Amino acid sequence: MELKTNGIIGQSTTLAEVFRVLLKVAPTDSTVLVTGESGTGKELLVRALHANSLRADKPFVPINCGAIPKELLESELFGHEKGAFTHAIRSRPGRFELADGGTIFLDEIGEMELSLQVKILRVLQEKEIERVGGIGAKKVDVRIVAATNRDLEQEVSKGLFREDLYYRLNVIPLHLPPLRERGGDVLLLAEFFLQRFCEKKQRPTLILAPNARKVLSAYRWPGNVRELENFMERLSILVDGDVVHPADLPQKILNAVGDVAELPEPTPPDAPAEVCAPHGFAWPTLEDLGRHHMGLKEFLDTIEDKLLEEALEKSDGVKNQAAELLGIKRTTLIEKLKKKMV
Ligand SMILES: Nc1ncnc2c1ncn2[C@@H]1O[C@H](COP(=O)(O)OP(=O)(O)OP(=O)(O)O)[C@@H](O)[C@H]1O
Ligand SMILES: [Mg+2]
Repeated sequence: MELKTNGIIGQSTTLAEVFRVLLKVAPTDSTVLVTGESGTGKELLVRALHANSLRADKPFVPINCGAIPKELLESELFGHEKGAFTHAIRSRPGRFELADGGTIFLDEIGEMELSLQVKILRVLQEKEIERVGGIGAKKVDVRIVAATNRDLEQEVSKGLFREDLYYRLNVIPLHLPPLRERGGDVLLLAEFFLQRFCEKKQRPTLILAPNARKVLSAYRWPGNVRELENFMERLSILVDGDVVHPADLPQKILNAVGDVAELPEPTPPDAPAEVCAPHGFAWPTLEDLGRHHMGLKEFLDTIEDKLLEEALEKSDGVKNQAAELLGIKRTTLIEKLKKKMV
């Protein structure tokens, strides 16, 4: 089955592992708990999970448990009957009912009160809900996916999160690593966002100077992908020329990374797993060699042949032009072609 990555950019092996599990768990009805620091892409991942599930054409209903006042959360989740409380002038279905057949996304589940946690546990066990002020239970067919940036195990030990609910939710844990652990993904994402924001502002895409790349790569990104995204938007507005230099970066970042001259070369993108190559290009892996039953030399020669052929075709056989397209000298091209003849 092919994975719909839903705009999730990344080629790091840490992210590829997340995709591998996602692909397996998506078509099941298992409960999934997504963890990760703020801004690591938890919501994006949960949407991808739904899109890859058998429920994809049914509702996806997110609810941020941390953003809704405690007194309202229960009726928001389970709905209420007319007269259930002072302002309940008419009956209203809750998010669980709206999500029937689909997926409910309980975001920031770590913020939920213990008394409500019991009720979520009940939905998980009995597959039924009860509206506030209601008189009976109602069956619902909803897949529950939850996310948190808290360490729930720690919350359990502090008595702030129910242990039984934790285990019920954590059937399939998906952990999104922080951006600083995704190596070359930092620059991949930086360029992706730069291009998107520059396009939006109808200006030529800004280019990151080598030293700027070093700085972005070395920075620890406490706000993860969200911080990087906002930051690229800022550059697309503030930078005047076509190139982003270290001097264009905020002092906060420059201070955090120290002397630019001392910084290591930026991490190149990891060899991507096929499943997460959103640009349609992926560096070959050993698996590719195996699949084509080739050794390294034969594999590289084949790639070279294909590129030479393409260049010659594009330039209608004019060797000067073909060589230019390939970035080699005309004489080198001729030599290569001679070798291929024998
Ligand atoms: N791998 C990625 N590729 C492209 N965009 C991403 C990626 N990860 C995150 N984003 C973008 O970064 C922003 C933050 O992502 P998201 O809201 O999913 O994070 P979150 O983990 O839910 O954060 P929080 O804990 O603060 O709610 C979004 O605009 C999202 O589109
Ligand atoms: Mg979120």
